[in-house]
Amino acid sequence: MFARIAGVGSYLPGSPISNTDLIQRGVDTDNDWIVSRTGIKSRHLADAGCTSSELAYEASCRALESAGVKASEIDLIIVATSTPDFIFPSTACLLQSKLGNQGAMAFDVQAVCAGFIYALNLADKLIRSGSHKKALVVGADVFSKILDWDDRATCVLFGDGAGAVVVEASETPGILSAAAHADGSYNGILSVPGSVCGGKVTGDPFLRMDGQAVFKLAVRVLSEVAKECCEIAGVAPAEIDWLVPHQANIRIIESTAKKMGLGMDKVVVTVDRHGNTSAASIPLAFDLAVRDGRIARGQKVLLEGVGGGFTWGAVLLEF
Ligand code: UT7
Repeated sequence: MFARIAGVGSYLPGSPISNTDLIQRGVDTDNDWIVSRTGIKSRHLADAGCTSSELAYEASCRALESAGVKASEIDLIIVATSTPDFIFPSTACLLQSKLGNQGAMAFDVQAVCAGFIYALNLADKLIRSGSHKKALVVGADVFSKILDWDDRATCVLFGDGAGAVVVEASETPGILSAAAHADGSYNGILSVPGSVCGGKVTGDPFLRMDGQAVFKLAVRVLSEVAKECCEIAGVAPAEIDWLVPHQANIRIIESTAKKMGLGMDKVVVTVDRHGNTSAASIPLAFDLAVRDGRIARGQKVLLEGVGGGFTWGAVLLEF
């Protein structure tokens, strides 16, 4: 029994916001710095009232439509997000309500930018165990709500969005291998170190990052986990048709591809248009490349992500 991707969908709020638009909004930065250090030219930012569950709903409707599956048929909903609508109930339960689904197991996964990989890994295990048949796996984040717009070293990097896949039990592949890891000793290099106590936010409610430490660790663990996934599946990196990496920084993406011996013509890149959309970035990029015809049925695709925690993981699949 395999878990197979039956459909994909994604959603970006509003119009693209360019680097120049950010400068006009008062951010002390310049286009050349952002493009040369990160590859980011624009991103989408949600309106103040827009929530992760709203973006997740739009992406999910598109994924369900592309799979030809009704919301009522879904028996598992996993939403990867670090920007949930509420402390509780989970964004997955809010999404379930919006979709009109009843009875599915629904929960959130919090593994920051590696969240979608964690969620897909879990869906694979639950489907292969026989306990679930049709899963909706979503990455949705509105990082614009947790950015300090006076911290130019972080606020220019992120965008908002959502991506979703429908995964179903299948006798043909399917997800071939999945690996996920964490090292909590690195909790301080990428965090939002605030909490709620006595009805008030205590500590710092904004994203803080040691960019250089994140950069070095990301390049190391991404190539290690890519290798691990290939070894588990018995697939050589040269057999991979498409690498769909987390979209944080073009230099991290290029380094990982190089370490795997893959040309950039085999890598899906959206960081230039989306920025870093955290848990949404991988399914957003995957959906884009499926819809524009690059990723085709039967091809081998490696998805990989890395994020705060520190967390990382990869999924190798035959589409
Ligand atoms: O999902 C994982 C999420 N995070 C990542 O993947 C981030 C990984 N790290 C990175 O991508 C890079 O470390 C950054 C792009 C964040 C930063 O690049 P860097 O080469 O590590 O720059 P830096 O932080 O060392 O800053 C270098 C200079 C500083 O100026 P001085 O002190 O040398 O004069 C900063 O003030 O760049 C300046 N700077 C900026 N200048 C214009 C920092 N941010 C900006 C900015 N615009 N937005």
